[in-house]
Amino acid sequence: MSQLSEPLNSTHKKSDFSCGKGMLDSYIHKQAHQDAKRKLSACFVINEAETNLIKGYYTLSNSSIPSELIPDQIRKKLPQSYHSIPTTLLGRLAIDDRFQGQGMGKLILIDALKRSFEISKTIGSFAVVVDPIDQDAENFYNKYGFLKLPDSGKMFLPMKTISQLFE
Ligand SMILES: CC(C)(COP(=O)(O)OP(=O)(O)OC[C@H]1O[C@@H](n2cnc3c(N)ncnc32)[C@H](O)[C@@H]1OP(=O)(O)O)[C@@H](O)C(=O)NCCC(=O)NCCS
Repeated sequence: MSQLSEPLNSTHKKSDFSCGKGMLDSYIHKQAHQDAKRKLSACFVINEAETNLIKGYYTLSNSSIPSELIPDQIRKKLPQSYHSIPTTLLGRLAIDDRFQGQGMGKLILIDALKRSFEISKTIGSFAVVVDPIDQDAENFYNKYGFLKLPDSGKMFLPMKTISQLFE
């Protein structure tokens, strides 16, 4: 599986990362490594080889959504007895502001979708779910076809749609 990103490790310059959103900066500075150690989520980074600066990062974890949140058109194709649908949570995604506006956001999102798709071949996952931090983030995911899940603020992209990108 060829990926641009690699798991966060101690050589990466975490504390230099700054994307302009305090919560996402603070997460990579203080929490990402701990969460990975505790197997709560996995953090992947794309770094600049010469400096080891982190250009961008994202996190993935297993999750699920109640089936009633899935729009009718899609839900009607799922077994009625499944109340909870397995998904992959792309919990955080951010690009350092020195590298924003250069296509890195698109690149890292594709990297995250590819990794999620590859994992779904081993552990079932119906969709990638994101939890946009604000309207700006929602607009970004909307551009790439993510659909809103009612009442949750979350958005999702079916794995079947993602598979068409990579197969
Ligand atoms: C949102 C973010 C990831 C975009 O990264 P980026 O590297 O600046 O984006 P790119 O240069 O790859 O842009 C790719 C495309 O998305 C568009 N885009 C970028 N940010 C966008 C936004 N907020 N809303 C809508 N479209 C957006 C670009 O115009 C570009 O479109 P084009 O291919 O048609 O020219 C980045 O701004 C960021 O990290 N923001 C802070 C953290 C954040 O909000 N994360 C979101 C998940 S919680």
